[in-house]
Amino acid sequence: MHNKNSTINFPSSFTWGVATSAYQIEGASAIDGRGPSIWDTFTHTPDKIIDGSTGDVACDHYHHWVEDVEIIAALNVNAYRFSISWSRVQPLGYGPWNEKGFEFYAKLLDKLAEKNIAAHVTLYHWDLPQGLQDRGGWLNRETATRFADYAAEVARRFGDRITTIATHNEPWCSANLGYGNGQFAPGIADTALSIQVSHHLLLSHGLAIQAMRAVLRNLNSSTKLGIVLNQWTAMPATDSPQDRAEAEWEYARSVQWYMDPIFKLKYPQKALDRMDLNKFLVHENDMNDIGQAIDFLGVNYYTRAYVSTENPPKKPEGKLGFSDMGWEIYPDGLTDLLLRLQREYPRLPPIYITENGMAAADKIEGGKISDETRIEYVRLHLHALHQAIAQGVDVQGYFYWSLLDNFEWNSGYAKRFGLVYVDYDTQERILKDSALWYRDFIAAQMQAARSKIQ
Ligand code: FCB
Repeated sequence: MHNKNSTINFPSSFTWGVATSAYQIEGASAIDGRGPSIWDTFTHTPDKIIDGSTGDVACDHYHHWVEDVEIIAALNVNAYRFSISWSRVQPLGYGPWNEKGFEFYAKLLDKLAEKNIAAHVTLYHWDLPQGLQDRGGWLNRETATRFADYAAEVARRFGDRITTIATHNEPWCSANLGYGNGQFAPGIADTALSIQVSHHLLLSHGLAIQAMRAVLRNLNSSTKLGIVLNQWTAMPATDSPQDRAEAEWEYARSVQWYMDPIFKLKYPQKALDRMDLNKFLVHENDMNDIGQAIDFLGVNYYTRAYVSTENPPKKPEGKLGFSDMGWEIYPDGLTDLLLRLQREYPRLPPIYITENGMAAADKIEGGKISDETRIEYVRLHLHALHQAIAQGVDVQGYFYWSLLDNFEWNSGYAKRFGLVYVDYDTQERILKDSALWYRDFIAAQMQAARSKIQ
């Protein structure tokens, strides 16, 4: 048996990082020419966010970015994953670029380079410019073309200093929560529409990859291109044929629905069989456009899906507990998931774990935040990841979600995921014990890597 307390060594070239996203940390929502996004509209609509909060100020990263990069550097990480706010650099999502917006990211990228921290950029972390929503948003096929224009412009301006560019973060969420159950912006609840939206998101990914490739080739740039998907293993609650079939359906509609078009150029039949396809329109060349070769796959893993057909559904026992989001802590699911991906996708590129982390009810006591459960969460998931690597899965990096406590979408500020505590009254940042642990863990990894080389 694998000993979860043993020392593990990751490859010496391994990427160690922390992650954030624009709307969740930047604030400055109407400053320097930024246009509104669907999340500005959504948070300013009554009753959408649990604590009635908005991202207007958030962690005010737009004004604290220097300090925040210093903190990132102090954590010993060699990579930072963040997203660009599309409406900050192109206020309407079409038409003129906003130079002030690009300046902000240019300064950030320079500072990261100065600290030797690789930039991993996401183009779309759910914040569509409201100007495009007013033209139909992701239900309008044209939005995919606008997205490719935006992607090409980012590549043109920054293609010389970004390590990886991901087109989308978790398109499953944009489609299923934005259009399926309406919990996220733009707050539409229509399953059939959400399926069409998922197709346009995938199409926009493929068009953006093609547009960026052309630009990067001209720049002679080595920036790697990919996408970030949220994934889980779906496990049947019992051995009954019903539970097992339901778990496979869950996996097909959430994981394979995004993986198959990209890596097999088709939607999974098992999912198509049970879906409401009356609003689903795929043009002739779409699957070729979507299935472009990519250089990396970003996987966000938080928990497993525990699937039960009983009424009421069986709940997982949660041997290792549940996070403050109510998500079961289940590290083995990460190993299972990665091994399954490796089995099912011969064209699988190298993987980054682009998000993994937990929310906890963190409190400052005597100037300290003792978040032992988070330390344990990360430690166990790193062991699970190491297991997958030992079994041949090509994983090149791990990013903790998140660097800072931040605006957790419809949960507002109540859920704290950060390694760094944020006091929202003063904008003071305080390193939690988990930040110190992660810092020391990475230092030890780098030390071990150095002694291996000598
Ligand atoms: C992921 C999101 C990220 C954050 C974490 C907790 O689904 O990508 O922005 O909200 O969950």
